[in-house]
Amino acid sequence: MSQGQFISHCTADALAGAAQQIKAGRLVAIPTETVYGLGADATNPEAVARIYSVKGRPADHPLIVHLADMQDIEEWAEDIPDFAIDLARSFWPGPMTLILKRSALAKDFITGGQETVGLRVPDHTLALAFLNEFKKIGGKGVAAPSANRFGHVSPTTAVAVHEELGDYLDGDDLILDGGAAKVGVESTIIDCTGTAPRILRPGAVTVEMIEAVTGLKVAEREEVIRVSGSLENHYAPSAQVILDGYPRPGDGLIALASHPTPEGVERLAAPINNEEFARQLYGALREADAQGIDQVIVIQPDGSDIAIAIRDRLGRAAQGR
Ligand code: TXA
Ligand code: MG
Repeated sequence: MSQGQFISHCTADALAGAAQQIKAGRLVAIPTETVYGLGADATNPEAVARIYSVKGRPADHPLIVHLADMQDIEEWAEDIPDFAIDLARSFWPGPMTLILKRSALAKDFITGGQETVGLRVPDHTLALAFLNEFKKIGGKGVAAPSANRFGHVSPTTAVAVHEELGDYLDGDDLILDGGAAKVGVESTIIDCTGTAPRILRPGAVTVEMIEAVTGLKVAEREEVIRVSGSLENHYAPSAQVILDGYPRPGDGLIALASHPTPEGVERLAAPINNEEFARQLYGALREADAQGIDQVIVIQPDGSDIAIAIRDRLGRAAQGR
């Protein structure tokens, strides 16, 4: 039986009720501007353990703690460098996760045993309202990975969350419907534990934006195995993803609108710019699977904006499951 109670009309009462539920140890899937997250009380080890079982994710992978307000980072982190404060002031609420030295509140079951913690204030009215309701009743933060099964494509709608996780959620768990995610790819993850910011996962907040705000040179990205999104075969649909190939009849095609659709090819998305590309990408990959398409050709967008994040995810999706 598919579970997870769907809340499509998120009134103030409904959000207050959802906050009570998460406080009581239930899971609550929340919309954010990047992708939907599967949330649990970040101070409750049993609730956080359920995130791992519902996702089918290895237990030593750290989780991002979502906060209502920038001030709340003081509870979760220590020795916060000035450049991290500058980033938080400039880009929160927004599609950016800061990796900071953890406080005593950030237990091993959140950090995967690391001495750092990932923190984010999401830019979504409903998510912020929910986080504030949780805070009012003593909540410290909501641990939330993307609300997909391990290795799959992140969900950008509440319906996609239900399709991904409905079979694994309980009847008391909730899915809050906040509409389609407006960014569409996961947050930029920035390691702030060194002398300069280092990008662990590219997103809508770009190197240029980070350097402009901090006045520091962003360190080169290294492969960091503890970032589970860095495992090669991630973000993958069932369909085989082929980058920059020529689609044959029966194939799916995702490309900027300027690329024509050859005869017999199933056009899955034709975004007009890179932002729209990011917004439509995961939905289009899901659509390929829904239609039973075996092979999807994706023409990668150029550019050093969010196109970097798009190419990063596509490179992984192309590795397959
Ligand atoms: O946009 C997002 O970041 C979404 C929404 C829901 O906020 N969340 C998300 O979470 O993408 P998740 O768990 O699917 O990916 C977060 C990545 C993981 O690869 C995790 O390993 C990494 O962040 N991460 C979390 N805490 C970390 C830490 N302390 N050090 C290094 N990497 C960390
Ligand atoms: Mg994820």
